[in-house]
Amino acid sequence: MRVGVLTGGSDCPGLNAVIRAVVRKGVQDYGDGFIGFRDGWRGVLQDDTVVLDIPAVRGTLPRGGTILGSSRTDPLADTDGPDRVRKTLSRHEVDALIVIGGVNTLGAAAVLANQHGVPCVGVPKTIDNDVSATDYTVGFDTAVRVATEAIDRLHTTAESHQRVLVVEVMGRNSGWIAVHAGLAGGANCVLIPEQPFDVNRVCDYIESRFKATYAPIVVVTDSALPQEGEVDLAGLSGIGEWLGREIERRTGYEARTTVLGHIQRGGTPSPFDRWLATRFGLHAIDAVHDGDWGAMVALRGTDIVRVPLAEAVAGLKTVDAARYAENEVFFG
Ligand code: F6P
Repeated sequence: MRVGVLTGGSDCPGLNAVIRAVVRKGVQDYGDGFIGFRDGWRGVLQDDTVVLDIPAVRGTLPRGGTILGSSRTDPLADTDGPDRVRKTLSRHEVDALIVIGGVNTLGAAAVLANQHGVPCVGVPKTIDNDVSATDYTVGFDTAVRVATEAIDRLHTTAESHQRVLVVEVMGRNSGWIAVHAGLAGGANCVLIPEQPFDVNRVCDYIESRFKATYAPIVVVTDSALPQEGEVDLAGLSGIGEWLGREIERRTGYEARTTVLGHIQRGGTPSPFDRWLATRFGLHAIDAVHDGDWGAMVALRGTDIVRVPLAEAVAGLKTVDAARYAENEVFFG
């Protein structure tokens, strides 16, 4: 078969490991030929391709980013999008497309597969871990590792100066990185978009932590909001900096904010992400050869299974109250 591959949406560590596994198994076991599309759906719409063979994927397992490039181009933004996708695929005699992406990229793949007859198989990736129907997405574990290491380091400097250290982590619509890294790093308060927070309560946790003679670490997701709603971030880097200032103003304790930002998305994937990405890649090429269009590979426990793409993108996977309560045990 001739198989197209693309990576769309925000990059994350582990994308190259997926591509490598797809190509290695496809060439060795099935005799497939591959074509890479540059910058996600943009490459398909604009017929921008790159050679994808075994030499192209050699040495890429530990490399962050994506050798194919990425973009947030939506192939459904224009009415002729699906037609342009089909034309590019037929021009290159592509029999199947492996789409490696988050909710938006995979959402487009679901529509193209189910409504426009484009033979797509999906692979879930995003540091946010918000794709439904899979326990984990590629990139999440590495981001949690980066955030946890940062929290560990911030504990010691917070103690030395008896300061509050606020750590802002990523998570556009969900607090998965915050709850995982917060639990792993022993944070004294974790704030996520799923649970609007009460600033006075956060200050109470801080006071009680200092009373116990320890300095507090507050982990906040960049999309978290206080109960009173939107705040004026004029001149500030984001909610983390705003919260640090509010804490200083309300408690009198000195506070510093660290924004981890894109450090969470860059660099080499963790061993778990390499393992997950590689297994997703191996199972995605099998799904292609089964003609399982509209399917996405997913992790359930330690098994890789196939689920309908439509189910995976039907709603965001967010942190529920019971999971958040596990973190709350350690607040204050
Ligand atoms: O979806 C991954 C993510 O890193 C989000 O956590 C974050 O809100 C967003 O992408 C940032 O996007 P950009 O790289 O375009 O600033």
